[in-house]
Amino acid sequence: MIISASTDYRAAAQRRLPPFLFHYIDGGAYAEYTLKRNVEDLSEIALRQRVLRDMSELNLETQLFNERLSLPIALAPVGLTGMYARRGEVQAAKAAAAKGVPFTLSTVSVCPIEEVAPAIDRPMWFQLYVLKDRGFMKNALERAKAAGVTTLVFTVDMPTPGARYRDAHSGMSGPYAPARRILQAMTHPFWAWDVGLLGKPHDLGNISTYRGNPTGLADYIGWLTNNFDPSISWKDLEWIRDFWDGPMVIKGILDPEDAKDAVKFGADGIVVSNHGGRQLDGVLSSARALPAIADAVKGDLKILADSGIRNGLDVVRMLALGADTVMLGRAFVYALAAAGGAGVSHLLDLIEKEMRVAMVLTGAKTISDITRDSLVRAGI
Ligand code: FNR
Repeated sequence: MIISASTDYRAAAQRRLPPFLFHYIDGGAYAEYTLKRNVEDLSEIALRQRVLRDMSELNLETQLFNERLSLPIALAPVGLTGMYARRGEVQAAKAAAAKGVPFTLSTVSVCPIEEVAPAIDRPMWFQLYVLKDRGFMKNALERAKAAGVTTLVFTVDMPTPGARYRDAHSGMSGPYAPARRILQAMTHPFWAWDVGLLGKPHDLGNISTYRGNPTGLADYIGWLTNNFDPSISWKDLEWIRDFWDGPMVIKGILDPEDAKDAVKFGADGIVVSNHGGRQLDGVLSSARALPAIADAVKGDLKILADSGIRNGLDVVRMLALGADTVMLGRAFVYALAAAGGAGVSHLLDLIEKEMRVAMVLTGAKTISDITRDSLVRAGI
């Protein structure tokens, strides 16, 4: 077992959530090979210890898209976050803002854009999927702009949903899914109470706001599954580039050629990501994909990376492999599910502490001091 800041939170999340939700978060595509490699490849990267270099002054701040980040970290977009804790997106966004790092609201959040953006005192990021319903996309972009969203994260690795067999087993998807979810929710009354399901019907923020009426989870999953668009190409993104004046980040890049295309397109950043192993099982882990991408485009745009980051050492490793900033996915979600916003705050504090130890003992005083020289050997 890999011990990390998020291991205990993962166990606590499993105890608290109904199984269909825990496995939705925890699982990946097909045999979950890439999901596992994301974590293992990172943990195997050897940091290069240096000593006696006066490391009394550390600075973990970084600058990204005209924002000051207290740590080179942003919270990744995670769908249904408001099902893991009551008004979960607001709780996580507040914890991120208090720490001084960005929060990214998923297209498929429970809390709508208009609820989360005003709850925090720093600009929110918003993630958009490419959906067949371009009316929904346009509407979401307009609402995001109106709510003061700065950075748009455009996720491109979901032209079709991955084969997630854990969801079929657990009751998240499949023909009997709604009945199984209700049954599981009934055996977790505290969860149902905590997320507010016992109070009023749950609506799914961004989508029900657009469609004008509350949607249940079954209806929502059906709408979403039929709405992913396999016809998408770079040309389809142009109208968004023209419409959106803030920074635009393309999420789901794993290949240097695609990274170069993102530069040509004029993206401000990319997220090197395999969607946490939830899409195409068998692709490279992010840690293994990142060095070649950094060689191809470092400096031409900002490189963010996610997938498999579970602790502060992993953050330092991803930076050393070429990322400018990282995104946390499951790590913050487990903490949120286990202990709400306080859990996310605690997790971010632990990650900062771990980063500080790693920086002191690799001789990096600032974030830009973390380079491939911080590793015993580059790549894996
Ligand atoms: C995700 N991810 C995701 N990405 C995205 O662009 N929009 C989304 O709505 C979601 N939803 C989502 C739900 C859940 C439960 C998970 C675990 C992940 C992917 C996410 O942004 C990120 O890329 C991965 O979580 C990173 O991998 P790790 O850190 O979770 O291993």
